[in-house]
Amino acid sequence: MLTCPAPIQSAAPVHPGWLRVTHWLNALAVVIMVTSGWRVYNASPLFGFSFPDTITLGGWLGGALQWHFAGMWLLAINGCIYLACNLASRRFQRKFFPLSMKSLVADMWAALHGRLAHADPRHYNSVQRLAYLVIMVDLIVLVMSGLVLWKSVQFPMLRELLGGYETARRVHFFAMSLAVGFVAVHVLMVALVPRTLLTMIRGR
Ligand code: HEM
Repeated sequence: MLTCPAPIQSAAPVHPGWLRVTHWLNALAVVIMVTSGWRVYNASPLFGFSFPDTITLGGWLGGALQWHFAGMWLLAINGCIYLACNLASRRFQRKFFPLSMKSLVADMWAALHGRLAHADPRHYNSVQRLAYLVIMVDLIVLVMSGLVLWKSVQFPMLRELLGGYETARRVHFFAMSLAVGFVAVHVLMVALVPRTLLTMIRGR
């Protein structure tokens, strides 16, 4: 059984087991959610374009909704486990903080000049910290706006907080776009430093 770890000791893996499992389940859930969501979008496009059917999941609206709801449970439950384990083990504070504007600007400058070091896989640079925090908030916004679209009557406060049903639809779409943009850059960065992929698979 997976348990939340004690604070890291030197012999501890870079990424504990629970983190690797939740990360890959999250990646699977996001792929299911995005590709089935595109199919749902195609049934009633919000903007003047549709997604090519070949890159969507579900085959038709009913099938896509089934995938979308199944993926939603995986995304939400797995996300809660990830957040709970991070908070309980204090890993959250260690890995993503401190985060200052000064260090962010310095790391961005170094990245733009191809000088951003990634020598120590235990340590996320400020750009990574911000990107990972942004995607966590973005996924929470995606789930919240999705709840409004799914059960608009049952979540009236959430609906009003998001500016009503129609605005929630737009929020959901733009949050999805941000997540897709994040994944594209994230996978590109991983491809540039393949050692990080091994660490996320093996733990060290
Ligand atoms: C096939 C797709 C993916 C690959 C190959 C991948 C790979 C990785 C790797 C290698 C790391 C560790 C980075 C490092 O040590 O520098 C990482 C961390 C992370 N990834 Fe992914 N990832 C993928 C998909 C996703 C998706 C879809 C999301 C969310 C939308 C995501 C969110 C994150 C987050 C938040 C972290 C930091 C986790 C933590 O330390 O708590 N990844 N990923």
